[in-house]
Amino acid sequence: MTQAEGAFFPVRPVRPQRLSSPLRSLFGEHARNSVAGWSEAAFRDWYVQRRVLGITVHIPRHPDAVQRVLLDNVANYEKPRLVKRLIAPLIGRGLLTAEGELWRTQRKLVAASFAPGAVSRLTGLMADAAEARVQSWPESGTIDIARAATHTTLAIIADALFSGDPRLNSARALRHIEDALIAVGQVRVTALLGMPGIRIGHVARAGERGRRYMRAMLTEIVRERGADGGPDFLGGILRDLHARFPPREAETLAIDNAATFYVAGHETTANALAWSIYLLAGDQAVQERARAEARAALHGPAETLPERLPYLRQILDEALRLYPPVPRMEREAVNADELSGHAIRRGQIVSLWPWLIHRHERLWDDPDRFDPERFAPGRERARHRFQYLPFGGGPRVCVGARFATVEALVILAHWLAARRFALPEGAIVEPLGSVTLRPKGGLPVQVTPI
Ligand code: HEM
Repeated sequence: MTQAEGAFFPVRPVRPQRLSSPLRSLFGEHARNSVAGWSEAAFRDWYVQRRVLGITVHIPRHPDAVQRVLLDNVANYEKPRLVKRLIAPLIGRGLLTAEGELWRTQRKLVAASFAPGAVSRLTGLMADAAEARVQSWPESGTIDIARAATHTTLAIIADALFSGDPRLNSARALRHIEDALIAVGQVRVTALLGMPGIRIGHVARAGERGRRYMRAMLTEIVRERGADGGPDFLGGILRDLHARFPPREAETLAIDNAATFYVAGHETTANALAWSIYLLAGDQAVQERARAEARAALHGPAETLPERLPYLRQILDEALRLYPPVPRMEREAVNADELSGHAIRRGQIVSLWPWLIHRHERLWDDPDRFDPERFAPGRERARHRFQYLPFGGGPRVCVGARFATVEALVILAHWLAARRFALPEGAIVEPLGSVTLRPKGGLPVQVTPI
């Protein structure tokens, strides 16, 4: 971190002169941390192609190319078979991994649960979870805000979608999901070598235990519920799936979607929260302004709280730019295509990197600087629609984007009103890119009373 003339340049990995060789990127630092090892040129040029163990990977950064993949020619780009193979044991053929008709059906089934009105009704529950977490903090001291954020978002997803089933909100469940996710992030090498089933080392073994625990727990819950479902999100999809599919398939798809929403619905938002607090802790002037806004906003009705937090929203948008919780998205070309003048062959991989695009020097002024004013009202007119994609884009845009935004704003407002945050002297913060972009080993912040 550097601090020059009042500007805050938050932490980022060092940039080597040159991109490492494909082999080193497989086994070196870049393999352990997907956001490390990128050269300056990666943030300046529009396109690079890598060939890794016989697989061609295109990495375009121009927003026109991103738009073509995610929107204009979206039918030509599916989630790669390799990625599906990796993640299927965890989330099966749920919404995140399904294609074609199965994807369309499932997207329609969940749409109502994530519509604006449905999400607004959850603000009270989100506020309660944020306040409950504050109760466990000291008045003054150091806390791990990444852990606090994960506990809070897990409690919210369990409450909001699964009627607060205690099995989904236990320390044990949390540990197992973490292990499963870390393992998915680390098996890329064996997957690329065509051996996704091979489990090497304690990380992979813990991941497999975590995956089994989670699937078994969700299977138990889904079976207990039966075809009638119950009054919540899980109940709704169970009834809808049973109305459309044979019983066994309906049950499996319900488990797949329970797993999808349970995992995708908390870890990403937790990272957005942790990075937001990190940025606020690094810039006290911004923090004070946000706190004043939050304290005033908390006086009004809970359902409309996010609408009274425009400045906090700018901060959240900037946090999602600097630390996109999903740092990369991959696609496989179904047929040949052309992206920014580069030929894409059938079966090749196109890798879209919010991490690179959000810090691209031809798209953003002073891209590594924390500056919430970039997202001041009206400024979006100067941006390409596809140069800012924390939630992806096109038809497969994150279905939980509104849920996540409302949730993050509600939690941040409550936390800012309860404590001041500062970065402890000498604390090392390191962005670690895996399936998500998290602070390696947690994120310590100092809290003091208001
Ligand atoms: C800040 C928080 C979040 C971020 C940054 C985020 C990011 C993303 C991104 C980038 C995608 C697209 C992936 C791709 O195209 O390859 C996605 C899809 C998805 N997200 Fe989120 N997400 C967040 C929160 C949530 C929440 C809270 C939920 C559910 C409660 C959720 C559920 C999903 C699902 C189910 C998909 C797949 C949608 C589809 O393919 O139709 N996400 N998310």
